[in-house]
Amino acid sequence: MNGIEIEKVLIPQNRLQQRVSELAVEISADYRDKDLAIVAILKGSFIFAADLLRAITVGATIDFMSISSYANQPQSGVVRITKDLEESITGRNVLLVEDIIDTGLTANYLLRVMRERNPASLRVCALLDKSARRIIDLPVAYRGFEIPDVFVVGYGMDYQQRYRNLPHIAVLTGESLR
Ligand code: IMP
Repeated sequence: MNGIEIEKVLIPQNRLQQRVSELAVEISADYRDKDLAIVAILKGSFIFAADLLRAITVGATIDFMSISSYANQPQSGVVRITKDLEESITGRNVLLVEDIIDTGLTANYLLRVMRERNPASLRVCALLDKSARRIIDLPVAYRGFEIPDVFVVGYGMDYQQRYRNLPHIAVLTGESLR
């Protein structure tokens, strides 16, 4: 695939599992006695969200939203909702689960969309944070790992729909990545 290759493993499987467990302990404590509604953003967060939900020990529901960025304005932060939530989030304690926050534009847009639906509370949980590339500042309540400015795949994350099945997070290199 035109010079694209896996450079190295950035986060091995055991560290992922351990960190996901820690996040679940934190979330379970914070949402005890609350009506937790997890909203996972597809496709990248599906494996993280599944592992996280399994480790959460308080009652919670999960719903999915699928988005894609407009090809002609990828840096605008405006995304197209290709699959909306099935349940109402009004009055619920929403936790938005993202794979990775890069510029912050996508999460910022999604937070705006969610806020208009009047949840009781709204927080972000991101497995990875590339804060060096942030354009829009946003609060990340639960963060798995801070990572450098590299392109990563695995554990649900892709490059052209490939590599999602890697059990770890790997760094991808190649001329055509950006
Ligand atoms: P943002 O709007 O720039 O914060 O981009 C967020 C989205 O871009 C993430 O939810 C991912 O889908 C995608 N993304 C950003 N960086 C990477 C990466 O290193 N690997 C795979 N997807 C990425």
